[in-house]
Amino acid sequence: MRLIIQENYSALSKWAACYVASKIRKANPSPAKPFVLGLPTGSSPLGMYQELIELYKAGSISFENIITFNMDEYVGLPENHPQSYHSFMWENFFSHINIRPENVHILNGNAPDLNAECEQYEADIHAAGGIDLFIGGVGADGHIAFNEPGSSLHSATRIKTLTTDTIILNSRFFDNDVNQVPQTALTVGVGTVMYAKEVLIIVNGHNKAQALAQGVEGAISQKWTITALQLHPKAIIVCDEPACDELSVGTYRYFKDIEKNNLDYKNLL
Ligand code: GLP
Repeated sequence: MRLIIQENYSALSKWAACYVASKIRKANPSPAKPFVLGLPTGSSPLGMYQELIELYKAGSISFENIITFNMDEYVGLPENHPQSYHSFMWENFFSHINIRPENVHILNGNAPDLNAECEQYEADIHAAGGIDLFIGGVGADGHIAFNEPGSSLHSATRIKTLTTDTIILNSRFFDNDVNQVPQTALTVGVGTVMYAKEVLIIVNGHNKAQALAQGVEGAISQKWTITALQLHPKAIIVCDEPACDELSVGTYRYFKDIEKNNLDYKNLL
């Protein structure tokens, strides 16, 4: 696992966007050989999406031959609800770039048969040739996508019950009213993320410090599903300084040292 420590959220976002853009450019995607991205919602990736939009507007990258699969979606929230992950993605990213709507995949939390919807999602990922780069955030309790503590580290796309912690945290998007937050969600599994060819996780802020420390230094455990990434052959975590607050000094200095020549986003493109 690589750990890229950036000064602040702005630098982290620029680095993540340039890294994604560099992978897309290197892959040189075409209709016959598209590049497949796994995408998150949440506040963590917002800065990266803004930077990617700027790169698109500047003509540095095109999303014409990109296929996307989002990580998760609430169950039972209308697609056009302002807090649905469908709304989030179109508002914050897709409507600003040249992605083809038919290339966008987001789980349908209102599907008549939710299990069939999850199985089909896995089949669609497989049919697209697998995910080339899965981008994610992390919950304060170390969850990736909606794989809450206790999720199998081999799990596939399925329905999950959200923990009280997550419901309370996410209530900030629902007028601070926990009763408005859906109790369940559809989510890709930890295994779905692990099957991606590469994974990039964005971690920012002091409230993610414990999750980062567990992810980098903790034992692999279903209690902190981010720890599964330690077994991934190509996983990168990009974080800011406040997220490092719980890392041991030795770990912090180690990654600062070995990545010292890789921190400048300008060198990525
Ligand atoms: C939710 C999402 C996760 C996300 C997490 C953190 O639980 N399902 O994919 O990583 O929130 O969100 P934020 O980036 O807003 O802190």
